[in-house]
Amino acid sequence: MSTSPTRPAAAAKSSHGGSDVESQRMRRRTFAIISHPDAGKTTLTEKLLLFGNSIETAGAVRGRKSERGATSDWMDLEKQRGISVSSTALTFEFAGFQVNLLDTPGHHDFSEDTYRTLMAADAAVMVIDLAKGIESQTEKLFRVCALRKIPVLTFVNKVDRRGRSPLEILDEIERKFSIEPVPQNWPLGSGEDFRGFVDLQDDSVHLFDERNSSRRISPKVVQWSDLESIEPSIASDLIEATGEEVDLVRMAGATLERERFLDGSQTPVFFGSALTNFGIEHFLHGFLKLCPPPGTRQQVEGSLPEASSSFSGFIFKIQANLDPRHRDRVAFLRVCSGMFQRDMEVTIARSMKKIRLARAFRIFGQDRQTLDEAYPGDIIGLVCPGEFRLGDTLCQDEIIHHEGLPQFSPEFFAVLGCADTSRRKQFDRGLTQLVEEGAIQVFHDAHAKQREMMLAAVGELQFDVVRYRLESEYNAPTTLSWRPYKMVRWFNATAEQKAKLRLPFSSKLALDQFGQDAILLQSKWDESVLHRENPDIRFEEMRVAS
Ligand code: G4P
Repeated sequence: MSTSPTRPAAAAKSSHGGSDVESQRMRRRTFAIISHPDAGKTTLTEKLLLFGNSIETAGAVRGRKSERGATSDWMDLEKQRGISVSSTALTFEFAGFQVNLLDTPGHHDFSEDTYRTLMAADAAVMVIDLAKGIESQTEKLFRVCALRKIPVLTFVNKVDRRGRSPLEILDEIERKFSIEPVPQNWPLGSGEDFRGFVDLQDDSVHLFDERNSSRRISPKVVQWSDLESIEPSIASDLIEATGEEVDLVRMAGATLERERFLDGSQTPVFFGSALTNFGIEHFLHGFLKLCPPPGTRQQVEGSLPEASSSFSGFIFKIQANLDPRHRDRVAFLRVCSGMFQRDMEVTIARSMKKIRLARAFRIFGQDRQTLDEAYPGDIIGLVCPGEFRLGDTLCQDEIIHHEGLPQFSPEFFAVLGCADTSRRKQFDRGLTQLVEEGAIQVFHDAHAKQREMMLAAVGELQFDVVRYRLESEYNAPTTLSWRPYKMVRWFNATAEQKAKLRLPFSSKLALDQFGQDAILLQSKWDESVLHRENPDIRFEEMRVAS
């Protein structure tokens, strides 16, 4: 992995023809980082940007515990809680590529947002803490990637600290995810004894120098066979032990095949240390070699457009109050095909309404940069006058419908009440709008005459966001009353099958906001009863709305 990826051809700026779009597409890579809080996602992001010359010094990215709120305090709620709710895209150039890094909220309560953001990525990087191994949030996010067939690269972080043995980490990845981990490099020591890593592609050793931690300086590289003579300060038993591990890994025989990485049966594994900046450049080269260029998203209707043909894209996130100075709503669109040009007229495939995209931005932290053109893989922030819904397809010529965004099983359920009856109208209007926007899911009792609207979300804090927005945007204070359900299982069944459904005592038959049948359940135990008693019906924990 030490050889640089082929530099993509520079795109001609003057022409807007298909070949130009194609060359722009080929130089883009769009990905997201998945991790458990504290594994080092923010630090890695920062170091990637440092290599991409997007920031001058490390420490400029929001989200570090010590700096949270410093650059993304767009919402009081974030400030009050010291968490990061927003997610945007960061862009940097490296080795001739334009890399779009989809930034996802670290807090697990906003994982629904993260799940959806993953739908806009062509690959994901899973960051694992060497000492902690695979943690719960990483596991959840990996499973979403696997479900959606998003290829995953692994970065095992914090090798400068004492941790588990690298072999143990590989074993855990294989056991938990049934995916073959293929190491691309191998650490030489750990903790105080950490001296560098062996590049398994060419047997070179990249030597660690702590003094380079905040700069873009390439490490000293020597051949493995010369290591002992060139670096006598490295203990011979460390070299011997590392050599044995490398032999073991080699004997296991796994070689990385790009097709198997793309189909999700292999994950390349890179060891490094984001904090000390070690292994980042090696990882970036490996990433660029493997990460696929932007692909067109699956269509459900309309003919599949070539990536270079007319413009199409889909909305994967709507964010309110992104900037308190503007008090507006921004819809994030991922370009799938063709070229976006500011002021172009597009059709919203759902409503067939034509709309001119006059206000388009690239959003970096809190800064907005007017965007004049964009290409497949790019993320655009569109100021949203209430026209867009999550999952909307925007297209230019031919009407196509990109596959909808998946809905994930919520874990919290509650009924929201209007605390001030004189604000009832605003409450209803606000709630309807937030539901349409996709800020929260809704379920109704399938049998009850008086339909109580139950709100549901993956994370508890999503309720705080909805209540906050109802109060701040619609001046409608609310009350909240929790319901005991913990999960949803969607299903398709004939009327006959539905009549014969055997449900656990404490569950509820419900309809979601799209009229889809679902069962609300209170425990894993209830779920196993549901499966056991209704073997002919397939129950799903994720649903793609069409
Ligand atoms: P997150 O976004 O995934 O939540 O993690 P973040 O980057 O904020 O990192 C969590 C903690 O781990 C931070 O320390 C960070 O400095 C540390 N860290 C990240 N990468 C490495 C690494 O490669 N090696 C070592 N030794 N530490 C690493 P903190 O003390 O919790 O926060 P801070 O005060 O440094 O911001």
